[in-house]
Amino acid sequence: MRSKAELHVHIEGTLEPELVVELARRNRIELPTFDVEAIRARYDFADLQSFLDIYYENTAVLRTEQDFYDLAAAYLGRARAQGVRHAEIFFDPQAHLSRGVSLEVVFGGLTAAMKDSDVSAALILCFLRDRGAEEAEQVLRAALPYRDHFIGVGLDSAEVGHPPSLFRHVFDIAAAEGLRRVAHAGEEGGPDYVWEALDILRVERIDHGIRAMEDPRLVARLRDERIPLTVCPLSNVRLRAVPSLRDHILPAMLDEGLVVTVNSDDPAYFGGYVEDNYRALREELGMTDAQLDQIARNSFDASFVRV
Ligand code: HPA
Ligand code: ZN
Repeated sequence: MRSKAELHVHIEGTLEPELVVELARRNRIELPTFDVEAIRARYDFADLQSFLDIYYENTAVLRTEQDFYDLAAAYLGRARAQGVRHAEIFFDPQAHLSRGVSLEVVFGGLTAAMKDSDVSAALILCFLRDRGAEEAEQVLRAALPYRDHFIGVGLDSAEVGHPPSLFRHVFDIAAAEGLRRVAHAGEEGGPDYVWEALDILRVERIDHGIRAMEDPRLVARLRDERIPLTVCPLSNVRLRAVPSLRDHILPAMLDEGLVVTVNSDDPAYFGGYVEDNYRALREELGMTDAQLDQIARNSFDASFVRV
C-alpha cells in the first residue's frame, strides 16, 4: 500500500456509528436509536446541508476529554492501517463550544491521542462559515492561548451564501499569528469562491476545489502557483457534488497539471477512509498506478509539516 499524507479529514467526520452509541451510553445521552445499522441507514444525503445536519447532531455525544481522545485515537489507528504517515486534521471548535464543551477539553483529548500515535499529526482549526465572521474571530482569540496545539485555520460548513470574503479580517489575524491558511471552496460554491479564498484569505491550499475546473483562468492560476487541492472523491459522490465516481473530474485536474491530493473528508459518513478513496479511483475510474503514485507524492509536497 502507498504511503500518503491525509490533508482533508474532519475529526468529527470520523465518528463511526459504533462510537456514537458507545459515547451516548457512557455519557447517558438519549439517541433517536441505539441501533448502529439504523444510524448508518440515515446516511443517505441529498447535498452538503443534509449531511451537516446529521454530522452536528452526532457530535452531541462528544463531551469529555476522554471522548475526544477516543475519537482521535480511533481515526489515527484506521489511518495508519490505510497507509497514512502524516495527517493534518480539521476540527470544528464551534460545534463543541456551542454545547458548552470547552476548548481545553477538545484540545486536551485530541492532542493526547496524537502524542500516543506513531502517525505524525497536526490540527487545523476550522471556522463554521454559516455562523459568521464575528463568531469566527471570537473563537480564534479564545484559541490563541492554545496556539502551540494547532498549525493553521480553515473554513468549512455550509458553503453557498457564505463566501470567503466575509472572513478577510479573521484570516488576517491568523496570518499575523503565523498560522497556515486553507478554506473549503468550490465544493458546492462556484469558481468565484475559489478566487476569493486565494485573493482575499490568502489560503495556501484549496479544500475540494472541484468547481475551479469551470474557469480556465483559475485553473491556470492554480497550476502556475502550484496551489494544492484536497479532493475527496467518495465525499463528492455521497454529497451529490458529482453524479457518480465515473463522472469525477479528478483525472482531468491531474491532466491540467494541478497539484491534486486525495482525501477522505468525513470517512465515517461517506463509505471509506483514504486508501478506500484511492482504491475506488483505480477500480471505478481506471486511474493508473502512476497517477495514484503522483497523487501520493503530491500529498507530501502539499503538507504543511515535513515528514
Ligand atoms: N464540507 C463542508 N463542511 C464540512 C464538510 C464538508 O465536506 N465536512 C465537515 N464539514
Ligand atoms: Zn471537508
